[in-house]
Amino acid sequence: MPATIVVGTQWGDEGKGKLTDLLARDMRLVVRYQGGHNAGHTIVVGGESFALQLIPSGVLYRHTIPVIGNGVVVDPAVLVAECDTLAARGVDTSRLVVSGNAHLVMPYHYELDRATERSLGKNRLGTTKRGIGPAYADKAARIGLRVQDLLDEKIFRQKLDVVLREKNAVLAKVFNRLALDGEEIARRYLDELAPRIAPMIGDTVGLVHEALEAGEQIMLEGAQATFLDLDHGTYPYVTSSNPTAGGACVGTGIGPRDVDRVIGIAKAYVTRVGAGPFPTEVDGELADVLVERGHEYGTNTGRRRRPGWLDCVMLRHAVRLNSLSEIALTKLDVLSALPTVKLCVAYEADGERMTRLPYHQSVLHKVTPVYEELEGWQEDLSQATSVRDLPKAARSYVEAIADQCGVPVGYVGVGPGREQYVRFAA
Ligand code: GDP
Ligand code: IMO
Ligand code: MG
Repeated sequence: MPATIVVGTQWGDEGKGKLTDLLARDMRLVVRYQGGHNAGHTIVVGGESFALQLIPSGVLYRHTIPVIGNGVVVDPAVLVAECDTLAARGVDTSRLVVSGNAHLVMPYHYELDRATERSLGKNRLGTTKRGIGPAYADKAARIGLRVQDLLDEKIFRQKLDVVLREKNAVLAKVFNRLALDGEEIARRYLDELAPRIAPMIGDTVGLVHEALEAGEQIMLEGAQATFLDLDHGTYPYVTSSNPTAGGACVGTGIGPRDVDRVIGIAKAYVTRVGAGPFPTEVDGELADVLVERGHEYGTNTGRRRRPGWLDCVMLRHAVRLNSLSEIALTKLDVLSALPTVKLCVAYEADGERMTRLPYHQSVLHKVTPVYEELEGWQEDLSQATSVRDLPKAARSYVEAIADQCGVPVGYVGVGPGREQYVRFAA
């Protein structure tokens, strides 16, 4: 049975966690393939809310094996804390398997993330300050420490010695910060964290392929989103990994022929945290309404998210980049009670109308969205369980999105709860 990918189509926080959890009902493995604890994936079951950072969203079921793939960067302290928090709430995390090839987020990565943001001043990216960018930079520079290094004290210490010499020099000489103590780091990682992480480390590539060969369903859960992708996003206002569907293959260790379904998660409007271009951004009263009704504050960082209208130019691009087979539209309920709703169907710049994303980002910075204005609906959607329960105007909005993007909308979210969704089209 081939794999299903869940990928964000906007700038994150689309509701990937909820959809992953929902679909994990039928999955054997749920694999996170990139990112780290910059992610915050919320699942609400029976009124109880779980905010996951590193652990895949399938963890709440007993029949799934949650897997942290090689493409993820792992802060072992965060992972241990997340396991403990879940355990305290009665969630069994003992099945969790972590790739030995995943890279470690180290204390100097946090320091460098913070110091770089500070020195960028008004040009800062607005990162989550979790050390994610510096950890991926070290991976690419081939000086990263990996999860498997926790199992070998000699290698861990050797690598740490080499890398910390460089990091401390940069921290002191470039950023005027205090040097970090290598012995303290080694003791914390090797003595405190390694014994907790060691039982989780496994051959995740083997596990995934055995499941595929046995005909079991597996799901690959993306963090962040298409327009935060290091290659395809609004660079430099991006994260340092590849959330797009191609990244799922690399970050898990499978080939593209092992994937047959790619579900793009799109919020019924758009939000973005941190800096960067955002053509359909709104402000004023409408922004406040979307933020308050949608509870648009970061799951981990608490930052207010920037809201805007749904952008079909971006969504069409996301369909191409990820070869989406369908879209899951979330948070449609949040748009209730607006007199009209707007869909961005094209951009205009310098008198030119474009229906495709401009390849030159300077153009994206100055485009004006071309909107189609649709009738709003006043009804509360939170109890809807089938398409028939949706008011005609809400249905028309969903259909217009499918028309604009050329792929079906398969699911519509009408509330945060696991059961609050409508199956829209097969
Ligand atoms: P993720 O990072 O993509 O997993 O999304 P987050 O969990 O960061 O943010 C999505 C927020 O919207 C969470 O608080 C979810 O509980 C909530 N949510 C998800 N789907 C829906 C929906 O259809 N309606 C409403 N009202 N909330 C939703
Ligand atoms: P989930 O998985 C929304 C954003 C940050 C910043 C940029 C770079 O919950 O959708 P980083 O710390 O990754 O170097 O920050 O990316 N960002 C997210 N925005 N949701 C996320 O994750 C994000 N992860 C990173 O705000 O703009
Ligand atoms: Mg999130």
